[in-house]
Amino acid sequence: MPKSWTSGGFELHLDLEPGVGRRAALERSLREAIRSGRLAAGTQLPSSRALAADLGLSRGTVVQAYEQLLAEGYLTSRSRTHTEVAAVPGARVRTQLRSATNFSVPYDLAPGNPDVSQFPRSTWASALRHAVTIAADEDLRYGDPRGHPQLRRALADYLGRVRGVRISSQAIVVCTGFTNGLRLIAAALRDRGGRVMAVEDYGLPFHVDAIEHAGLRTETVRLDDDGLVVDELPNADAVLVTASHQLPWGTRLHPARRGALVDWARDNNAIVVEDDYDGEFRYDRQPIGAIQGLAPEHVIYAGTASKSLAPAMRMAWLAVPERLLEPIVQIRLLSERQCPTFEQLALAQLVDGGGLDRHLRRMRTHYRKRRDFLLDALATSVPQVRPIGIAAGLHVTLLLPDGTRDDDIRAVLADHGVGAHPLSDYARAGTAPPGLVIGYATPPGHAFPAAVQALVTALAKLV
Ligand SMILES: Cc1ncc(COP(=O)(O)O)c(C=O)c1O
Repeated sequence: MPKSWTSGGFELHLDLEPGVGRRAALERSLREAIRSGRLAAGTQLPSSRALAADLGLSRGTVVQAYEQLLAEGYLTSRSRTHTEVAAVPGARVRTQLRSATNFSVPYDLAPGNPDVSQFPRSTWASALRHAVTIAADEDLRYGDPRGHPQLRRALADYLGRVRGVRISSQAIVVCTGFTNGLRLIAAALRDRGGRVMAVEDYGLPFHVDAIEHAGLRTETVRLDDDGLVVDELPNADAVLVTASHQLPWGTRLHPARRGALVDWARDNNAIVVEDDYDGEFRYDRQPIGAIQGLAPEHVIYAGTASKSLAPAMRMAWLAVPERLLEPIVQIRLLSERQCPTFEQLALAQLVDGGGLDRHLRRMRTHYRKRRDFLLDALATSVPQVRPIGIAAGLHVTLLLPDGTRDDDIRAVLADHGVGAHPLSDYARAGTAPPGLVIGYATPPGHAFPAAVQALVTALAKLV
């Protein structure tokens, strides 16, 4: 039975495996939680007395389990009463990146959120009012799990026009954010006998979690300055790529590699999952069309409202090859079924009525100014820092001098109240060069110059 404890506001669910002895079960459960990143380095554990009471174990059993994990290096002890999780090599670092927002730091420069202070509230309010007014009674019943036909039609037109996606509205699935879409895809592949999805190194740890939770294994593939090293793709059922703006490295997949990727998918009867999370934001070059346009039968294109509008919309869309459409729809039916219909109709109105295009045009200028402000401040104050991936999106990666240690990066950021992640937090297969990933869409305008100032002051201590 899963057990849980709550101690000092911290809660963890522990599965104590039956049939292996209680102490061994507790040790295993804690080791798994630490390796998987569910218990992050530095997390203080409850006292042996509190944990024993919560789990219905004897205190001696908990003390022995703690001692064993101390000996194995999973835990460290500052005093007799303070035991905490140690930094374990190879343990996944996921918890920090789970939430893109860190409300507890004065200057939140972690990537993830757009500038939500610019959300087009009045346009959205009138689109919602319009949706409620025009929705037919039929629309208030259970709807099509692919999404409302009006939104699918609007998206098919929009994606064709803006991103070069070739898709019929029949093959679009509106889902509850990209992460939900990724789970749907992974589960559909698994149901058809799939086993492995390749992922880029680097990337978001919780995307790996979503894929693995749906029952596929992940295998990591290296990146270089031209993006995913396609030649090194393993024998896999699918690959997840951020081709138009790699997260976090910032490169776009080189045109030759795009062709090679499509060839790989054809040769292996595999699927490319194209995560086009910020494809609308490109500043210095012509936008690059989606890979999906090259091979619609082998690519699932995924777009999201999380960057273009707001993460709170919880709406994303998949353009799905025919053979995977029914499996995905079946899983959608068994889970969330559909997004709320009024919101879908409102989004259709925003897309069809040009409100989304106008918002994106305005935001491109807004983000470009922020990016330039940040780059100027870096060039003036810390020219030793090398920004990469600046041509698109809402984040830049800052490469720091060789030898800069992650611990020092974290300490200096914390000292200056800056919320941001070292590049290594995104490393799926191990290490990364010393660096930092900065989102420049937050904080809101009035706080942005001070946040940039805090960042460059912090960086000056590292170079
Ligand atoms: C790489 C990447 N893909 C997709 C998304 C969007 O995810 P969702 O639609 O679940 O908010 C994000 C958001 O931060 C992202 O960074």
